[in-house]
Amino acid sequence: MTFLVVPLADIDQNQMKKLAGEKAVEQFVKDGMTVGLGTGSTAYYVILKIAELVKQGYKLKCVATSIASEKLAIENGIEMVDLNEVDHVDVTIDGADEVDPKMNLIKGLGGALLREKIVAAASVEEVIVVDESKLVEKIGTKVSLPVEVLQFGHVRTAFGLRRQGCEPVLRMKDGKPFVTDGGNYIYDCKFENGIDYLSFKETALDAIPGVVENGLFINLVRAVVIARKDGTVEIRE
Ligand code: A5P
Repeated sequence: MTFLVVPLADIDQNQMKKLAGEKAVEQFVKDGMTVGLGTGSTAYYVILKIAELVKQGYKLKCVATSIASEKLAIENGIEMVDLNEVDHVDVTIDGADEVDPKMNLIKGLGGALLREKIVAAASVEEVIVVDESKLVEKIGTKVSLPVEVLQFGHVRTAFGLRRQGCEPVLRMKDGKPFVTDGGNYIYDCKFENGIDYLSFKETALDAIPGVVENGLFINLVRAVVIARKDGTVEIRE
């Protein structure tokens, strides 16, 4: 399904993110739902659009995939609940770093992959919002795969990651290792020719002692909302 939204001139990446985020909310969020809020610069627009619905009178309960998204949601008047207090999430709308033609993903460049995967697994529908720059033919060809690891023994854990055929680089921020909301480190793993056998690789990475979670999202997605620079939005289901 393709919608023509802004046919006049090319739009920039930020406008694409806004378009995708807002379209996803219009299409998939209904009054009374429990909604998972994603993380990142595209999910930002999702949260603002959901806040608009709440102001219009929608009764929504939301679960956040990161401390940053939770803060943004609360600041904008959205009612938040603990994931442990709901039996399921109706729909989660989140961003992604790569999307392949089968709607497999890499997520986690923003560092929230662990909570994002937990919330995705609890969701009846996982909807992904991206601009067209995130589309790839093969997963792992554009970005490195983020893998969240325990701080304890992380250098040993990285040896195990390397044996999976990648070059792991410890993510840094302000001269120190980047620490996730869960208190862990992230290794960004570059696979020279992209990632083959995605499900196998997802399982193999998680089996390394010290790995908490990896950023491969395989067979988890119900729909991808893609905004293009010509102003069209495609919903791939
Ligand atoms: C957060 O950890 C990520 O998984 C984001 O969802 C992903 O990086 C997409 O972010 P942007 O929408 O900011 O590109």
